[in-house]
Amino acid sequence: MTILITGASGFIGMHLSKRLLEMEYNVVGYDNINNYYNPMLKKSRLDELNKYENFNFYKADLINYNTLESVFNKYGDINVVINLAAQAGVRYSIEKPQAYIDSNLKGFGNILEACRNYDVKHLIYASSSSVYGANTKMPFSTKDEVDHPVSLYAATKKSNELMAHSYSHLYGIPTTGLRFFTVYGPYGRPDMAYYSFTKDIIEGNTIKIFNNGEMMRDFTYIDDIVDGIVRLIDQPPQPDPDWDRENPTPESSYAPYKIYNIGNNQPVKLMDFIETLEKHIGKKAKKEYLPMQPGDVQATYADIDDLTEATGFKPTTTIDEGLKKFVDWYMDYYKVGGK
Ligand SMILES: NC(=O)c1ccc[n+]([C@@H]2O[C@H](COP(=O)([O-])OP(=O)(O)OC[C@H]3O[C@@H](n4cnc5c(N)ncnc54)[C@H](O)[C@@H]3O)[C@@H](O)[C@H]2O)c1
Repeated sequence: MTILITGASGFIGMHLSKRLLEMEYNVVGYDNINNYYNPMLKKSRLDELNKYENFNFYKADLINYNTLESVFNKYGDINVVINLAAQAGVRYSIEKPQAYIDSNLKGFGNILEACRNYDVKHLIYASSSSVYGANTKMPFSTKDEVDHPVSLYAATKKSNELMAHSYSHLYGIPTTGLRFFTVYGPYGRPDMAYYSFTKDIIEGNTIKIFNNGEMMRDFTYIDDIVDGIVRLIDQPPQPDPDWDRENPTPESSYAPYKIYNIGNNQPVKLMDFIETLEKHIGKKAKKEYLPMQPGDVQATYADIDDLTEATGFKPTTTIDEGLKKFVDWYMDYYKVGGK
């Protein structure tokens, strides 16, 4: 079977592709290698993937439907599409909203059209925990309404879920949306706090801690996330026979449509997270405490019961183990820290 993975030179896309290549799937990667963060890191990730004979890669943009279609034409057997390509990041969506409209809305629209025209059997796509927006009821549940986004990024991710539903309804395409909760690990994203904290602690720069460190995050180690996605590939959603039009729940449907949280349901205090980082780096951070940033949320914590029930998914990596692996990778990749 051939699987198309968009965003394959991104953080999650690279790790997922690697696992699937090891499982002997044919993987077609698709990514525009944009410069939202240093493209050299994306190239290093691709170097890891190019070691496998069953990997093919296209440097192309999702907003170009013809290019996307040419990839489907070339490989007649793309049955599963995993769409991870997107403009990510909450803060950048305040600075550059157009990038989100282009990649996350137009780009996702093209993915749906390709799935429709090429009879794809399962579309799995990245949503985000940020769709919970102004909700404060914890843990965040896919059974709760998410109609109050606090960033354009979150609004585009929620839109993807709605767009997917319309295609599941109109064309019977099985679609699974995954709301990721702060994923971290080797080859991670430099725009995320754990990555820049590591850099700054090593270089002796002051780290900025928002909301006086009164934040909790459901940090999920990359291998656990990959495990969850792999478990879902052969489980396209079926219409839910219990779905009730009089009392509709948001996460399933009469159409083959499903939304899952995918996270670690053990939230960690930001200050504990920083202490663990300091331990593995072997150096104390210089800290500056600042107020909450616009668009940020105080806590994220996932209810993952649905995914556990459907697939047996259970994150196993502790923060201590996961951050050790990240710091070891970081020091080796950048040749810093003297460990
Ligand atoms: N990492 C997290 O903690 C997290 C949390 C919530 C949601 N997500 C979502 O998961 C997905 C993967 O995230 P990631 O952390 O790997 O991000 P990433 O930025 O490392 O990967 C995304 C990749 O998509 C590519 N891309 C962006 N726009 C494109 C376009 N128009 N056409 C082709 N390629 C394009 C980028 O070049 C990048 O390599 C994203 O959709 C993101 O929004 C991630």
